[in-house]
Amino acid sequence: MRIAIAGKGGTGKTTIAGTLARALARTGREVLAIDANTNPNLASVLGIPPASANAIVGLPRNLMQRTTHEDGTTTTKFGADPEALIREYAIRGPDDVQLMVMGRVGHGGAG
Ligand SMILES: Nc1ncnc2c1ncn2[C@@H]1O[C@H](COP(=O)(O)OP(=O)(O)O)[C@@H](O)[C@H]1O
Ligand SMILES: [Mg+2]
Repeated sequence: MRIAIAGKGGTGKTTIAGTLARALARTGREVLAIDANTNPNLASVLGIPPASANAIVGLPRNLMQRTTHEDGTTTTKFGADPEALIREYAIRGPDDVQLMVMGRVGHGGAG
């Protein structure tokens, strides 16, 4: 199951995303939360202390791989191993939700 939460600022996206992630994890599901905010703050709702949250390394840029074909057309696909990214970049919160952050503005990463 994949759930994306998007929309206007200040409407409760982070609160709902974090609460939903924790509620699902408490039922025993394996939950991966991805914070795509350029000013990420999902960690706090997941119960991850600020010091650990600030130490999270954002995902690298250029995860997409572009191939140029003989006829000159190009295709772009995800060029990384998701399991390896999770192992390297995700951290675990108190309800066992794993969190990855896309990156912060001005701090590199894919954000
Ligand atoms: N159901 C709610 N009732 C009252 N306040 C809420 C509710 N959901 C979120 N908030 C508060 O509203 C503010 C914005 O919520 P947040 O989840 O950060 O929104 P977003 O991620 O969409 O910017 C926060 O201070 C949050 O605590
Ligand atoms: Mg938010």
